[in-house]
Amino acid sequence: MKTSATGALRGRLQPRNAGWRGRREPLKINGDIFLHVSVLLSETIDFLRVRPDGLYLDATFGGGGHSEEVLKRLGPGGRLVSTDCDPQAVERAEEKFKGDPRVKVFPARFSELFEILMKENLMPLDGIVADLGISSFQLADPSTGIGFMEEGPLDMRMDPRLSQTAADLIEESMEKELADLIYQLGEERHSRRLAHMIVMSREEAPINTTTRLKLIAERAIGRFYRRGGIHPATRLFQALRIAVNREMEELDSLLESLPGILKPAGRAAIISFHSLEDRKVKQKFAALKKEGWNLMTKKPVTPSEDEVKQNPRSRSAKLRVIEKD
Ligand SMILES: C[S@@+](CC[C@H](N)C(=O)[O-])C[C@H]1O[C@@H](n2cnc3c(N)ncnc32)[C@H](O)[C@@H]1O
Repeated sequence: MKTSATGALRGRLQPRNAGWRGRREPLKINGDIFLHVSVLLSETIDFLRVRPDGLYLDATFGGGGHSEEVLKRLGPGGRLVSTDCDPQAVERAEEKFKGDPRVKVFPARFSELFEILMKENLMPLDGIVADLGISSFQLADPSTGIGFMEEGPLDMRMDPRLSQTAADLIEESMEKELADLIYQLGEERHSRRLAHMIVMSREEAPINTTTRLKLIAERAIGRFYRRGGIHPATRLFQALRIAVNREMEELDSLLESLPGILKPAGRAAIISFHSLEDRKVKQKFAALKKEGWNLMTKKPVTPSEDEVKQNPRSRSAKLRVIEKD
């Protein structure tokens, strides 16, 4: 078994914004090699109860923390499938597991998993882990347009095969659509004011960079955030990223695919970072429980104080786990 992407999908992957300062791995910040710190790692792995000869899927490879821990627990007969929709994460996975015959790596969005697993004869699974959202690599890399600490193109696509960038979304949406999106996905109270300023600004010139959008947010709602802990652009950027990557629809697909891809007694562990995501997981798991599945987490598992102190990004994480009947 070779650790490589499926030819058909691989052929369609293009580097994201290759011309934009062309940042490649390993990402370095202040000269240090930059890493993604996995969230709720030991809790998730404990719940998965990895069997040495089992077949597991990490649907969000990211920096590989969860994949690595699963692999450590597999014997020679076990198998791990690592997928991610970001080609750079896929490259990292291929590099990390090069030569390990137990691992298969594929570029895949959640909505493509069922088809790929079926085609590759990699179902049913003993367990699946999905650690939603973005990795620290994506946030820190200006070429993704996901963060706003440095200037980058207003792209935000984790999967470059998606057709609409954040700049396109801003250009093509009506003011009310933008306001609703910012309110719902960003939970931003000042969404209307923000949407109005965006629409006024785009009439002057297209909004193509992270720094321009950040400035617009500062001008529109900065005064409401002066004493708050977060930057006025934070919720706006989150809302656009979730919309561009169709993160809610993708999560629906993942949840819908669980009965078809898991073995009886197979477990799904999902870590979410946003209340809308967590609500979806909670509701789907409650519905599956009614069908006889075992809910392993009555309440979501959250990071310890210590974990939050060491990795503030973990503070909103919620882990829910379910076992197929
Ligand atoms: C929080 S990171 C995962 C970190 C990883 N568990 C680790 O320990 O390093 C989330 C990853 O999920 C990927 N991702 C987000 N939405 C996805 C989707 N719909 N399909 C596939 N991958 C997705 C992102 O590209 C990102 O690499």
